[in-house]
Amino acid sequence: MSSSCPLGSTRNPFTAVDTPAVGVSIEKLSKNFGSQQVLREVTFAVEPGEIFVLMGPSGSGKSVLLKHIVGLEQPTAGRVTVHGLDAAATATREQVRIALVFQSGALFNSLSVYDNLALYPREHQIADEAAIRDKVMHALQILSLEGTARKAPSELSGGMRKRVAIARALVMEPQLMLYDEPTSELDPVMSATISEIIATLKEEYHVTTIVVSHDRELALGIADRVGILMDGALVSLGPAAALHAPQDPRVAEFLSPKIDLQNPRFKNLEK
Ligand SMILES: Nc1ncnc2c1ncn2[C@@H]1O[C@H](COP(=O)(O)OP(=O)(O)O)[C@@H](O)[C@H]1O
Ligand SMILES: [Mg+2]
Repeated sequence: MSSSCPLGSTRNPFTAVDTPAVGVSIEKLSKNFGSQQVLREVTFAVEPGEIFVLMGPSGSGKSVLLKHIVGLEQPTAGRVTVHGLDAAATATREQVRIALVFQSGALFNSLSVYDNLALYPREHQIADEAAIRDKVMHALQILSLEGTARKAPSELSGGMRKRVAIARALVMEPQLMLYDEPTSELDPVMSATISEIIATLKEEYHVTTIVVSHDRELALGIADRVGILMDGALVSLGPAAALHAPQDPRVAEFLSPKIDLQNPRFKNLEK
């Protein structure tokens, strides 16, 4: 990374030798809500230390799939394991630290940025206040948010709130980081910054990373591998470079939608 990287040469208190990166395995995962089938026998594995980007159109089941990995949803059929443990079991989240950065950020507006970050270690009594303060301030420093500690999330810009949500996840010292649409609603420059932060955190902390996004630039920029979900089914799985020449016409259309100028709706465009 460049010397402007927010991590710089700072010693990393988040890395612990006894917390190796973990793998994730999704095996024939199906999910129904009532009569609606939202996931259809989805199978893939994410290797320890990998950045996996899951793409797909809105409504294709990406967020539902992420929720299975943190145990917020239970499979209708099939299995999700993290580090070989059943993701649906409460005990798994006591053994493996998994952080989900929600699309909305899910920050508490009634709490300062500092208290949002301190919430998890306080609730889990992971450390005393002085140690929590070190962790929180370090996470804020990594994301260039030192000046925001006493502010309410509602006082910050969209890009800053996304960074606060990432900093809060980092305080959990996760072995697995999940991001739901981390660049949505951000301008291209801020999107690129967030992508770089995700890649840097993975490099520095060897945290296995799964990103749900329909940001093609993000996928091409940071993914080791990319999966594409359409209507609940995984239609493509492979290295990010393969996105340059997709084989499946549905995937090609999704990645570079074309306007059919023969369509009568667009006839005025040619004038
Ligand atoms: N808790 C739920 N109850 C019923 N339907 C849901 C629930 N969560 C998601 N869905 C439906 O599942 C489908 C996939 O949703 P989602 O995973 O959020 O899509 P996206 O790929 O945009 O993240 C959508 O049709 C959505 O309405
Ligand atoms: Mg979603």
